[in-house]
Amino acid sequence: MTTTNPTYQSEYQASVDSPVDFWADKACALPWFKAPSAKLTTDENGQQLWFADAKLNTCYMALDHHVKQGRGDQVAVIYDSPVTGQKAQYSYAQMQEWVAKFADVLQQQGVSKGDRVVIYMPMIVEAVVAMLATARLGAVHSVVFGGFAAAELAVRIDDAKPKALVTASCGIEINKVIEYKPMVDQAIEMAESPPQSVVILQRAECQAALVANRDIDWQQAMQTAEPTECVPVAGSDPLYILYTSGTTGKPKGVVRDNAGHAVALHYSMSAVYDMQPGDVFWAASDVGWVVGHSYIVYAPLLKGCTTVVYEGKPIKTPDAGAFWRVAEKYKVKALFAAPTAFRAIRKEDPNGELIQDYDLSQLKNIFMAGERLDPPTLEWTQNKTGKPVIDHWWQTETGWSIAANLTGIELLPVKAGSATRPVPGFDVQILDENGEQLGANEQGAIAIKLPLPPSCLNTIWGDHQRYQEGYLSQFPGYYCTGDGGYIDEDGYLFVMGRTDDVINVAGHRLSTGEMEEVLAAHDAVAECSVIGVPDGLKGQVPVGLAVLKNGAEIQQSELQSELVSMIRRDIGAVACLKQALIVPRLPKTRSGKILRKLLRQIAEAQPYTIPSTIDDPASVDELAGIMEENGLVVRE
Ligand code: COA
Ligand code: AMP
Repeated sequence: MTTTNPTYQSEYQASVDSPVDFWADKACALPWFKAPSAKLTTDENGQQLWFADAKLNTCYMALDHHVKQGRGDQVAVIYDSPVTGQKAQYSYAQMQEWVAKFADVLQQQGVSKGDRVVIYMPMIVEAVVAMLATARLGAVHSVVFGGFAAAELAVRIDDAKPKALVTASCGIEINKVIEYKPMVDQAIEMAESPPQSVVILQRAECQAALVANRDIDWQQAMQTAEPTECVPVAGSDPLYILYTSGTTGKPKGVVRDNAGHAVALHYSMSAVYDMQPGDVFWAASDVGWVVGHSYIVYAPLLKGCTTVVYEGKPIKTPDAGAFWRVAEKYKVKALFAAPTAFRAIRKEDPNGELIQDYDLSQLKNIFMAGERLDPPTLEWTQNKTGKPVIDHWWQTETGWSIAANLTGIELLPVKAGSATRPVPGFDVQILDENGEQLGANEQGAIAIKLPLPPSCLNTIWGDHQRYQEGYLSQFPGYYCTGDGGYIDEDGYLFVMGRTDDVINVAGHRLSTGEMEEVLAAHDAVAECSVIGVPDGLKGQVPVGLAVLKNGAEIQQSELQSELVSMIRRDIGAVACLKQALIVPRLPKTRSGKILRKLLRQIAEAQPYTIPSTIDDPASVDELAGIMEENGLVVRE
């Protein structure tokens, strides 16, 4: 139960002692069509469901409810686009009308409750409109990040089997226009379950050619569209599918429910971010990632805040003062971005001189997530802005933070390198490989004791077995996060990195296994490995190590450029693979498994021991030597 003045400890303890009462209390704050009677249930597949029998519509909670409360004139969404020079603001009433009409456009294409809609769009307000319109119909959106190539889009289309796809003619990156339509056309050609129709927003920077009997012009369709009402869904019905990288080449479709998502996100806005209705929240991310779903779109609107949709970068659009300009102009109270963005700003403006040009008095806290917040970036941002900098740790799978410093409840002292303490609802424990709980400061696998709080995934789209095997089977009774780390004597959590083949490049989660599948398709490559090497700007960058087939004749520079192009073509520019080395052999076990962990340890200049199962011990030192010569051993 909520007390009048909760401390971190009282709030957290209540959430783990009595999760059902705790979340039932938080759920009371939301405008349900029918309030949930069952709080936490388990279905026939063993899926844990929060508020399954509630009736709601997430779009209603995010827009219509606020209009009904008389707050229709408040700004809901601010669009600021330094790459096009455009700025605009939309009230809750305007967003409601826009979304209600676009829902009709989708409805005209046959989209109804439960159907999937793939959204492949840049950072423009229409992306938010498309997401909310899908939710309004009780349909399920699946947003694909614009930096992914056609093949990645095709894989997601085939898995989600959408009825419609919504896109724009182009996205705009630093000094370049990226045409989206050719990638959409190519993806649809590759897909086995293509959508019946494609809705295209034509942008001034580029006009896309339309395919007859399939493509619909967004603007034209809107001219005749009529506003539609919100379709009630059950609490456990899916709101969206968001694909994320796992250890294999096939991305995992994380399924988010409607009710648990709304409850957790609404709670997080006050508890984690200290936001109240009317405050301005800015997550400088992209709607293609979970941060964008949760904190550009849903959470700020569920709470009645104003959200900023920023189409630009932290630097070069036009300079490293971009974040401070936006924060001043819109009186942003909470800014949330990835550490890599602040590393980029620091590189361009090391003394923080541009910060002095702006009035940041309204900015209360800066939040960072998406990758480990390295202590120098934490200290630089704190010192130069004079604001509290809050590291918080989370995953696509949870949809909100697992560990954080609860600025809306009690700000605890910050420890550099730590995401502070578990967020209410998450019983975080450190386990050894046998599932035994480890003591303070002992490093192991980070696991969360079940039940998970609301909003966390409870299945993988179309593959429940993958969910169980990937997350629940390693430590029975726990959700395995895939991250390693430790909890110190004060209960602070230190997340040290992934224990699997996932890497984090500029705050973007990517699979080295998937990149290996692409490189292995090259004619000259017998076997290969992709490892994440520490990078001063992007946190990690992928590097390919390739062993040539017998008799293959190819120069290092030629192979590298071909492999780099293959990754850009098959995964996308966002993968940032720029270096691929020919090596004589890779360290493997006798059973033929490449020792990826060992390669990572070499790259991070960590002490390593050569396992007894290794096939050829000399291969390790040989490879370490090659990596050192090529600048791939990075000492912090
Ligand atoms: N659509 C199309 N292409 C995209 C894209 C998009 N939405 N986003 C990135 N790309 C492309 C870029 O143009 C670049 O292509 P290039 O190799 O041809 O130049 C490539 O993908 C890599 O992009 P990026 O990782 O953004 O690197 P960058 O050097 O352009 O910018 C930073 C560096 C640090 C400024 C940038 O990575 C950044 O802002 N990071 C923050 C990330 C973030 O917010 N993550 C969300 C998690 S919270
Ligand atoms: P994503 O699913 O894209 O949000 O990526 C989740 C992964 O990013 C986590 O499993 C971590 O490895 C990493 N991550 C996110 N936030 C943090 C953080 N604050 N500290 C350390 N790692 C983080």
